[in-house]
This record gives sequence, C-alpha cells and structure tokens, in this order.
Amino acid sequence: MQVRPIDTDGLRQVEQWLAADPVGGAIFGGFYGHAVARWTPLLQAPSRHGWLTLDDEGPIGFIDLEILDDEAEITYYVSPARRRQGHGRSTLDEVVRLAAAAGARQIHATVEPTNTACLATLRSVGFTELGTNEFDELEFTCTT
Ligand SMILES: CC(C)(COP(=O)(O)OP(=O)(O)OC[C@H]1O[C@@H](n2cnc3c(N)ncnc32)[C@H](O)[C@@H]1OP(=O)(O)O)[C@@H](O)C(=O)NCCC(=O)NCCS
Repeated sequence: MQVRPIDTDGLRQVEQWLAADPVGGAIFGGFYGHAVARWTPLLQAPSRHGWLTLDDEGPIGFIDLEILDDEAEITYYVSPARRRQGHGRSTLDEVVRLAAAAGARQIHATVEPTNTACLATLRSVGFTELGTNEFDELEFTCTT
C-alpha cells in the first residue's frame, strides 16, 4: 500500500465513494460526503493530516489523522470495491506508521458498537479496547 497527502482530486474521490456507499455514508457521510467543503479547511491546521491510500490498481481509501500533543485520533476508510481483501489492516499499519512519524505516541479510535467491520480491523491489528464512552461508543487505543 502507498499513501499520498490528499489533494482536491482526492477529496472529490472521497465524496464520490461516500455518495455510492450506504455503509460509509451512514457512518460519516455527513462530513466526508462533503469532503471538499468540510475537510479542506480543517486540513489547513498543522495538527490535521489527510492521506489517500492506493496501490497499482488505483485509489483504495483514505486516512484522517488529528494529532494533538503526542496523541492521534484516527478515521480510516476502504472503498466498497476494495473491502475484505486485507486493505483495512494494511491501512491501520499505515496509520500507526504515519502517526508515529508525525510525533504521536498514542493512537485513539472511537467506534460505534454496531460497526462490525471497524471493530474487526482494530482488533485484528492489536488495538486495545478501553470500554464505552459517555456516548456509548467503544474506545480503542494503541501505542506507536
Ligand atoms: C472498516 C473497513 C476499513 C474494513 O476494511 P477491509 O478492507 O474490509 O478490512 P480487511 O479486509 O483488512 O479485514 C480485516 C479484518 O476485519 C474483518 N472484517 C472486515 N469487514 C468485516 C465485516 N463487515 N464484518 C465482519 N468482519 C469484517 C475481516 O474478516 C478481517 O478479519 P480477520 O483478521 O479475522 O480475517 C471498511 O469496512 C470501511 O471502510 N468501512 C466504512 C468506514 C469505517 O467504518 N471506517 C472505520 C471507522 S473510523
């Protein structure tokens, strides 16, 4: 898997994926479904990092990292046509590498308990489950 910093074409690709993806759309379509308008301004901050993931076949998905002090909050996505082929796990390997390179020591992920695919990928790469937060979401963490 390769990664490259997300640009406007990448943000448009994200919007196209989300528009055609009921699963991803239900999870975070309100934000990434309008990536050009909503994600672009946040990416101006030095703490925010957007990446497109790709391989020789083309774009796979994206990574969104926010790093405050030495803690990273992550969001990751594999487009529907590329799922169940190990790219989710490879994406998380890249997340850990990118977060560590940007200075993060600890990575946090927050997941709806119904998001089976996300729970499976986090568990499969060894994230530790911390329990439920005040919004009934599951919290995971990993040390880089
Ligand atoms: C979560 C997501 C990234 C997984 O991507 P993926 O490429 O399908 O994941 P992988 O093929 O690497 O699968 C990794 C593990 O998760 C399991 N898994 C993946 N999708 C699953 C599903 N829908 N139900 C049950 N298990 C699932 C795989 O079987 C594999 O488990 P294994 O190690 O026991 O074989 C993808 O489904 C996605 O982008 N979903 C929408 C957005 C999202 O939920 N993002 C994460 C929240 S921040």
